[in-house]
Amino acid sequence: MKIVVIGGTGLIGTNVVNRLRASGHDVVAASPNTGVNTITREGLAEALSNAQVVVDVANSPSFEDKAVLEFFQTSGRNLLAAEAAAGVGHHVALSVVGTGRNPDSGYLRAKDAQEGLIKASGIPYTILQATQFFEFANAIVQSSADGEVFRLSPALFQPIASNDVSAVLADLAVGAPVNGTVEVAGPESIPMDAFARQFLAFKGDKHQVIADTRARYFGAELNDKSLRPLGQPRLGPTRFEDWLAASAARA
Ligand SMILES: NC(=O)c1ccc[n+]([C@@H]2O[C@H](COP(=O)([O-])OP(=O)(O)OC[C@H]3O[C@@H](n4cnc5c(N)ncnc54)[C@H](OP(=O)(O)O)[C@@H]3O)[C@@H](O)[C@H]2O)c1
Repeated sequence: MKIVVIGGTGLIGTNVVNRLRASGHDVVAASPNTGVNTITREGLAEALSNAQVVVDVANSPSFEDKAVLEFFQTSGRNLLAAEAAAGVGHHVALSVVGTGRNPDSGYLRAKDAQEGLIKASGIPYTILQATQFFEFANAIVQSSADGEVFRLSPALFQPIASNDVSAVLADLAVGAPVNGTVEVAGPESIPMDAFARQFLAFKGDKHQVIADTRARYFGAELNDKSLRPLGQPRLGPTRFEDWLAASAARA
């Protein structure tokens, strides 16, 4: 099967490309670095020619509210139009658990807009909503810096290893379109401030982490339901402490 992975050079994209190639599929890793750009449309029609499936795991270069909305709207419109022209039969996209119920987050508003375009496109689709990647831990902590301390919400969330997300995505890409949303989350829920403490302790960083119920996560005030799946998600098997140990061993 010819499968085009948009964002195929990124964290998730590289992993999904490798998994699909290992299963014998004809896979195109499409991104600006390989001459395919969903914003300018450069190389897009050529890449999609004869493709049965498109997996969209592109991400915006900027997370600023307006820029990220423009990215996912423009990229989504251009990609879906090119897929319709090429007769692609399955659009698979990676989104975020909680998209649609955190309107104060500019990033999640943009992912909601991306999901809306997919649902309205008429192309058979599967949306995978994943929770926060373990690999995103440093960005979560750094975004909460308040002078010399880190201030994070004690709300529960359920982060996951990107490798576990990639496994589910590769599986969905070769299956029939769900025409709906599948959720995937990590094996354990943890308060976000405790997660930050665990991450910093592992790195030997002694900065203080303060639990603050009003601390915002990329613009959104959180409760225990904001970022956790509400349904019956698929669960990634990797625990955070095992992932930390494995990434230290790799380093
Ligand atoms: N971080 C999280 O915790 C989390 C949680 C749930 C879901 N997600 C979703 O996961 C997805 C993938 O994230 P990631 O961390 O793997 O991203 P990433 O490592 O930052 O990779 C982004 C990819 O997008 C490509 N890209 C950027 N601009 C493009 C354009 N104009 N046209 C085509 N491709 C373009 C990049 O290509 P170049 O290498 O050529 O620049 C790169 O391959 C995102 O959609 C994100 O919303 C993330």
